[in-house]
Amino acid sequence: MKRFFSFLCISWAAFSTVMADDYLISTSRTSLLLSGNRGEKLLFQYYGGRIGSGQEVYNSETGMNLPVYPEFGIDCVDEPAIQVTHADGNMSLDLLLDRVEKSSGEDSDTWTFVLYDSVYPFGVNLCYRAYRASDVIETWAEISHQEKKPVTLFRFASGYIPVRYGEHWLSHLSGDWARESWLSEERLLPGMKVIKNKDGVRNAQMANPSFMLSIGGRPEENTGTVLGGTLAWSGNYALKFDIDYSRHTRILAGINEEASQYTLMPKERFVTPELAFTYSTEGKGGVSRNFHRWARSHKLAHGAQLRDILLNSWEGVYFDVNQPVMERMMQDFAALGGELFVMDDGWFGEKYPRSNSVGLGDWVVCKERLPDGIASLVRSAGANGLKFGIWIEPEMADDKSELFEKHPDWVIGQKTRTLKKGRGDAQVVLDLSNPKVQDFVFGVVDGLMTENPDIAYIKWDANMTLVNYGSNYLPADRQSHLYIDYHRGLLDVLRRIQQKYPDLQMQACASGGGRANYGLLPYFTEFWVSDNTDALQRIYMQWGISHFFPANAMASHVSAGRNHQTGRATPIKFRFDVAMSGRLGMEMQPKDMTEEEAAFARKAIAVYKEIRPVVQQGDLYRLFSPYDGKGFASLMYVAPDKGEGVFFAYKLEHFYGQPVPRFRLAGLDAGKRYRLEEINQTETRLPQHGKTVSGRYLMEEGIDIPMDAEYASMVIRLTAEE
Ligand code: GLA
Repeated sequence: MKRFFSFLCISWAAFSTVMADDYLISTSRTSLLLSGNRGEKLLFQYYGGRIGSGQEVYNSETGMNLPVYPEFGIDCVDEPAIQVTHADGNMSLDLLLDRVEKSSGEDSDTWTFVLYDSVYPFGVNLCYRAYRASDVIETWAEISHQEKKPVTLFRFASGYIPVRYGEHWLSHLSGDWARESWLSEERLLPGMKVIKNKDGVRNAQMANPSFMLSIGGRPEENTGTVLGGTLAWSGNYALKFDIDYSRHTRILAGINEEASQYTLMPKERFVTPELAFTYSTEGKGGVSRNFHRWARSHKLAHGAQLRDILLNSWEGVYFDVNQPVMERMMQDFAALGGELFVMDDGWFGEKYPRSNSVGLGDWVVCKERLPDGIASLVRSAGANGLKFGIWIEPEMADDKSELFEKHPDWVIGQKTRTLKKGRGDAQVVLDLSNPKVQDFVFGVVDGLMTENPDIAYIKWDANMTLVNYGSNYLPADRQSHLYIDYHRGLLDVLRRIQQKYPDLQMQACASGGGRANYGLLPYFTEFWVSDNTDALQRIYMQWGISHFFPANAMASHVSAGRNHQTGRATPIKFRFDVAMSGRLGMEMQPKDMTEEEAAFARKAIAVYKEIRPVVQQGDLYRLFSPYDGKGFASLMYVAPDKGEGVFFAYKLEHFYGQPVPRFRLAGLDAGKRYRLEEINQTETRLPQHGKTVSGRYLMEEGIDIPMDAEYASMVIRLTAEE
C-alpha cells in the first residue's frame, strides 16, 4: 500500500487544534507520522529521517499502520502498552482519537493526542514533545478516568515504537558494582528481550534504561541507521523488544509494572515518565550526539555550563575525615590548580560518629572530627581559592542512628517481619512515599545550605536496594504503589531543592554508577560513573555510558597509582588521559603524590582548563572501540563550529610486535587545516606535533601514533587555522 498524506499547515498559536488526519511531528532531521480520524484509532505510520509535507510514505515496506498505544482486551495478541481493570471488573480498552492539540515553545513542539475509550469514561493523553535542534522526541502518557470507583492500572508504558522486522542489533549497558555500564551488542532474534531493573532505588547499576537499535545490520559508529531510546525515570523499568512471528520488532518502554499495579481514583491523573527517542543515519555516534545535545540543552542541570575540576576525599582518606586532614587536602589540591573540594562520607554523627555501619541519617557535624564545623572548612576552601562540596545520603539511615531511634516508622519495612539490612549490616531505606520523610530529606539539604550558603556542590549518594518491600505510610490497598511513589517523592524533593537553590551543583551517586538516568539528571549536574576508578577499566565503562550521556555529566577521577579496586598500577599520564575525556576530577590523597606526579598533575589540570569547552560541550566521535579486541581505544571531541578538537587514544593490551592501527579522525571540517599539538606529554612523541594537516587528510588517511609502551596513551589538541 502506498500512502499519500496531506498536512494542513495551520498557523500555530500557543494552542490550536490540528484539522488534518495525518500528524507529522518533525525535528530538523527526523519525522514521526501518526494518522487517524476523529472517532477512529490513532495509528503509527512512520518514524525516521525527516519527510516533508505532501511527501509519500510507503508503509507496506515499513509495515506500520499499527495502533500507536496498543491496549489490552479486544485484540489481545500483542504486548500491550496499557492494561487496566475497570471499576466493573471489565479488563478491556478501546482507545479512539478525540482531538489533537499542539503547542509550540522556543525549542520544541508538544503534541497531545486525546484518546478516549469507546464505552468507559476512561482516557489517555498521548503526548509527544519534539525538540527541533537535537532531533529527540519525548513521549509519555497521561491516564485518567471518571468511573464511579477506582480503576487499577496493570500496564502503563511510556511509549511504543514499532520497527519493521529485519536484522536489528541491540546495544545496551549492563554490569554491577564497580563494573557498571558495560556495553553489550547482540542481534535480536524472535522472542522477547527485556532489559529491566527491580532495585527500587538505584536503577542504573545492573542495567541502564537506555538502548540503541541498529536497524538492518551490525552497529557501526559513524554509519548506518540507528534508533536510540532512554527512559527518564529513576525507578524500576522494563524495556521490551518483542520480535513477533510476523514483521515487527515492537519496542515498549516504561516503568516496570511488576508488583506495581496502581489504583487510580476518579479524576486522578497518572503521568508516566518520558521515553526519549532519536534517530540517525550517522550510526550510533549520530544517536549519541543527538542525546548529548538534548541533554546539555534540556535534560541536565546546568547542562551548558563548564564543570569545575574537583577533588573528592573518599579514596584519599575514606572515613578518616578530620579537620587537619581536610585542610591539608584543600591546600594541596589548590596548589595543583583545583577548583572545588568535596568532603565525602565520614563528617557527621553526634551520638553515633559515622562509620561503615552507624550514624547514617544524623546529618549533624561530628564535633570530635570537625571541631570548628563545616563553616570553617567552607572558609578555608575559599581562602584556598576553592569551592566547597559535601557528601550526603539523605534517603537512608543506619539502624544505629538517632533518626532511626526517633522515627522507626519512616523506614521501608514490614511490621510483621524483622528488617533485612544493607551496608554494614545496618543500612535501611527511608520511605519517600511519606510526605514527612520528603520534608526530612529536603531539610537535610536545606539545613546544610541555610547554615552554609556557600556550599557549591552536593554529592548525593544512595547505597541500598529497596528491600523489605512495604510502606508504613501507604494504606493496605495502596502497598503496590511504593516502587512508584518512592520516586515521585524523590522527584518532589529534588524539585523543591532546585527551586530554592538553583545554583547548587549536585552529583547523582548510588554505590557508584547506580543513578545515571534522565529521570534524575534534570536535577543533577553530573553522575558518578562507578566506584571503580581504575583507568583501564574506566575506558570500557566510560565508552558504554557515553552512548547516552554527555561528557560534562560523566564524573571521571584520577586515583592512586595502584588502583584500590583492581590493584593495577598505571602511570599518572594514563590516569589523567582517561579522566580528561570526561569531567576531570581527582579521588586520592594529593600529599601521597611524588614531586614528578604533582608537577604532571599541575600541568594536566592547567591544560584541561583550556580544552574543557571542547570536551564538555563538543560533539563526541568514538573511533576505536575497546570492545573490538584490537587492543586500542580512541575517541575525540569536536567543537560545534569544528574550529577545535581533542583526540584521545589508549593502549589496552601490551604485546611485543603488536600492530598499531592507523587512527582515522572524524567530525572535522574536511576543508579546514588543523594544527596538531600533543598535550600531557612527558616527552613529545607525536611526529606531527606542531604541524598543520588538513581535516580531509586526518579523516581519510589518518595518523600513525607511537603506542609502544604498556599503558601508552596520547592526547592531541587540534586547532583550525584561521
Ligand atoms: C558509595 C559511593 C562512594 C563513596 C562511599 C561513601 O560507595 O559510591 O563514592 O561516596 O559511598 O560511603
